[in-house]
Amino acid sequence: MNRLENLREIVDEVLDGIGAPEDRRCGFVHLYGVSAAAVLLAQRREQDAELAAVAGMLHDLATYEIGTSDDHAARGARRASEILGSLGTFTRWEVEAVRSVIAHHSDKAIIHDAFSELLKDADVLQHFLSDSGAPPLEPQAARRQALRRELDL
Ligand SMILES: [Fe+2]
Repeated sequence: MNRLENLREIVDEVLDGIGAPEDRRCGFVHLYGVSAAAVLLAQRREQDAELAAVAGMLHDLATYEIGTSDDHAARGARRASEILGSLGTFTRWEVEAVRSVIAHHSDKAIIHDAFSELLKDADVLQHFLSDSGAPPLEPQAARRQALRRELDL
């Protein structure tokens, strides 16, 4: 089993534990959707696609796990770090890279490093792909416009 499959088992176990079917569906759709969007953007932007997939899967896992979005970027970053550390197959540098981009992902009005920007854009792209008619609020609107230009959507 490869690293992504090991991680999916943990993500699935957390999401399977969500009682409300609609919340459970949202969790699967959003986390795996952001993960896939992150891989797409990583391929285009010459970033690490595997780590992008990991960051997408984990970025909001803590929010779904505890059912509140309070302080969700910091909480998600800590949870991602715990999970990746417990797997023992990710280097310290990789764990820190994922922790860092998740910690930044709510700051969509700010520009961070390229890998952090990739996760923020993947988050916005997944929302667009799942409901393209819903008008985004700022600062997601500007990111959505830039993504539509980048991806010719
Ligand atoms: Fe998200």
